[in-house]
Amino acid sequence: MTGGIERAACVGGGLIGSGWAARFVLSGIDVSLYDPGPDAGPAVQAAMDNAERAFDRMFGNARPAAGALSFAGSLAEAVEGAGFIQESVPERLDLKRRVLAGIDAAAPAGAIVASSTSGLLPSVLQEPMQHPERMLVGHPFNPVYLLPLVEVAAGRRTAPEAVERACAVYAGLGMKPLVLRKEIDAFIADRLQEALWREALWLVHDGVATVGEIDDAIRYSFGLRWAQMGVFQTYRLAGGNAGMRHFMEQFGPCLAWPWTKLTDVPELDEALIDAIAEQSDRQAAALSVRDLERIRDDNLIAIMEALERCGETGWGAGALLAEAREAMRGRRPPLTTPWPGRNGADRRRRRSGRFPGSR
Ligand SMILES: NC(=O)c1ccc[n+]([C@@H]2O[C@H](COP(=O)([O-])OP(=O)(O)OC[C@H]3O[C@@H](n4cnc5c(N)ncnc54)[C@H](O)[C@@H]3O)[C@@H](O)[C@H]2O)c1
Repeated sequence: MTGGIERAACVGGGLIGSGWAARFVLSGIDVSLYDPGPDAGPAVQAAMDNAERAFDRMFGNARPAAGALSFAGSLAEAVEGAGFIQESVPERLDLKRRVLAGIDAAAPAGAIVASSTSGLLPSVLQEPMQHPERMLVGHPFNPVYLLPLVEVAAGRRTAPEAVERACAVYAGLGMKPLVLRKEIDAFIADRLQEALWREALWLVHDGVATVGEIDDAIRYSFGLRWAQMGVFQTYRLAGGNAGMRHFMEQFGPCLAWPWTKLTDVPELDEALIDAIAEQSDRQAAALSVRDLERIRDDNLIAIMEALERCGETGWGAGALLAEAREAMRGRRPPLTTPWPGRNGADRRRRRSGRFPGSR
């Protein structure tokens, strides 16, 4: 389950970086994490707690022995000896380019350098790097330790071999790498999400629906369809026995009707932000972010496990979960056996959630 690497580095340990660290560590890979910010320790701890809970539910004793997590004091220290480096610093072009160039200068020859960027072009990010051929985008989804998709985007100077190796590493983490055919801003999934988000903002802006009503419209209907068939296969069925061609002929003309404002966005003025924030607080009621994270994680696991039971080999994300369970079996000693070469104190600290070397 390691995709051929034993040691990874995570640069940036916020929401996404800590999710990556948890996914690597719980897949049996040692991780060195660098984040100069004051909140990285708690963020990583929270991600590890949630991820361990989720992996226990999904894999129980079958999950492999966890890797070791350490906090590095510098970028150079973090990437030392790493076969794979995942950058997850804030989405600012200047910062990302500086950090990626720093990683490139210090990383071992042959290490892959991946950026978690949500939409910046890899060709632009790799410009200042000495070895751009090893850099690509690996765009994950929150929570990284649970959601399987990672969009893999190569820049103009990325070597095809780097894409192959990155995909092998991600697959080894139980993920579904989706390689982009073309380099485009915001890749595939964020383009789709952004289109829906723009329309949702209009509906609140125009007073048509509250944030809770919009979420209900999604989660009681097409959200369920999307989770298991996506949009095209769903619409194929909407065409009945006549299939996709009939569906397109029947509903195609609607695209010219004023059903959508998708090319336009409402101004995010104070009034709209206040309305959304207040409605969102009411929607959450007494549930904290931690409560909601755990409800979300339990629901995601339940959905994937339900899809795992579909047909003989599972369906979609459920088939991937079945493969991950299979791959885990017998690869590494289970958690209950001692870790070779590691002392009991380290192991106890790890199990209790405090990590050797943490600040
Ligand atoms: N939030 C999401 O849902 C999401 C999803 C997919 C991808 N992403 C992408 O992941 C990246 C990180 O986003 P996030 O939501 O985790 O942000 P975040 O603000 O939660 O975390 C960023 C972390 O980077 C650290 N940092 C800042 N400068 C650094 C430096 N020079 N070296 C090392 N660490 C540094 C900060 O201290 C912070 O902890 C962004 O590129 C974002 O677009 C975010």
